[in-house]
Amino acid sequence: MFACLISYFTCIRVWLTCSAKEMAAMFWHWLGVISLLLGFQQPSLRSDLFLSHRFIPSQVHISLAGSNGMRVSWVTIDPLSPSVVVFGTKSGIYDRVAIGDSESYDFLLYRSGQVHNVVLYNLSASTTYFYKCGYESLEYMFKTPPAIGFETSVTFAVAGDLGQTDDTYSILNRIQQTDYDVFLLPGDLSYADYYQPLWDSFGSLIEPVASSKPFMVTHGNHEKESVPLLVDPFRSYNTRWKMPYKESGSDSNLYYSFEAAGVHVLMLGSYAHVGRNSNQYKWLQADLANVDRSKTPWLIAVLHAPWYNSNCKHRGDGDEMMKSMESLLHKAKVDILIGGHVHAYERTSRVFNGRSDSCGIVHITVGVGGNREGLANRFLQPTPEWSLYREASYGFGSLKILNATHAHWSWYRNKDDNSVMADETWIQNKVSLHAC
Ligand SMILES: [Fe+2]
Repeated sequence: MFACLISYFTCIRVWLTCSAKEMAAMFWHWLGVISLLLGFQQPSLRSDLFLSHRFIPSQVHISLAGSNGMRVSWVTIDPLSPSVVVFGTKSGIYDRVAIGDSESYDFLLYRSGQVHNVVLYNLSASTTYFYKCGYESLEYMFKTPPAIGFETSVTFAVAGDLGQTDDTYSILNRIQQTDYDVFLLPGDLSYADYYQPLWDSFGSLIEPVASSKPFMVTHGNHEKESVPLLVDPFRSYNTRWKMPYKESGSDSNLYYSFEAAGVHVLMLGSYAHVGRNSNQYKWLQADLANVDRSKTPWLIAVLHAPWYNSNCKHRGDGDEMMKSMESLLHKAKVDILIGGHVHAYERTSRVFNGRSDSCGIVHITVGVGGNREGLANRFLQPTPEWSLYREASYGFGSLKILNATHAHWSWYRNKDDNSVMADETWIQNKVSLHAC
């Protein structure tokens, strides 16, 4: 029996010669998949047919894909497990089916599991969907954000530099208990740092949060895992964390944009090319030219290495990007820029060109999601005039867009598994400020 199972999976994996019994096992498996696609009642499995954990989805996460789409991503051990999602608005009743594709990657001696991506289209706003990934799946559920348009409110949960420590776990738990619509992660996800199994454990850690609300990420320096001549940078990140870059006209998964309710969000790439001749800069120009502030009055940028930060750590890491792009974002009337990287919280006044400016951008650093590297406790003295609040504690932020003109930002310090609001402010939309 054991030898048969081994040969069965060996057969699936490399399509070598199969015995009649092995071919029969594969036939019954794919018959089940086809019946699932066609909505037929799945017959009970043959007792001698082995469908193992190799088909069970893990690391399930979702991300917005276009104006009414949701990308569902997961990992299976078996490369031939189907990239199919069945879903519907009632638990246990899956009246819609979407099909996608899958891929894996090699990283020196490591071979990843099969990473599946399936986009569900034509979803309704503010609606709960129940779904299954592939053939051997538990039921998951997610809620879509409010419809795109200026009249709706939306709340973003914000945390950067997550890692996978006790603090990460605690912060994710706290976030899960809040009423938010979309998660924003400004880079540094798993802290795998070349040890690829840590990508898998990170995917499992965040699944409860990331499978139920859109989990929108951009990359940080810890995603850049290159081995000269052997592994290109961001191979793991780009395979595992497919974001809607094609949907937003970008040529790279490292920078893209999306919209939710009355907000246009720029997810920028601190470690992609940032110069004014770069593809990222050209894409950003084109993307900004297409923003309709009557539809999405709020404009938010998210990136990893902050531009305005008064911590002693990582001085100057965002300078090149800031030099290239600050004027562009200022002219476009970006309201808020969220960064990570520095492991201390900080919020500024509206700033531009190195000083407070009543028409500038509010910069917020939230690289305190629980990473294993510890906090950055030393700040520059004296405090720059534009720095309004700074504190080296783990925590997360909440950005609630109330309407076309006002938003409320709050930051929660994580302490003893409790979250205490340590900083808050109201922010007025820039297009509603007549002086700007
Ligand atoms: Fe970083």
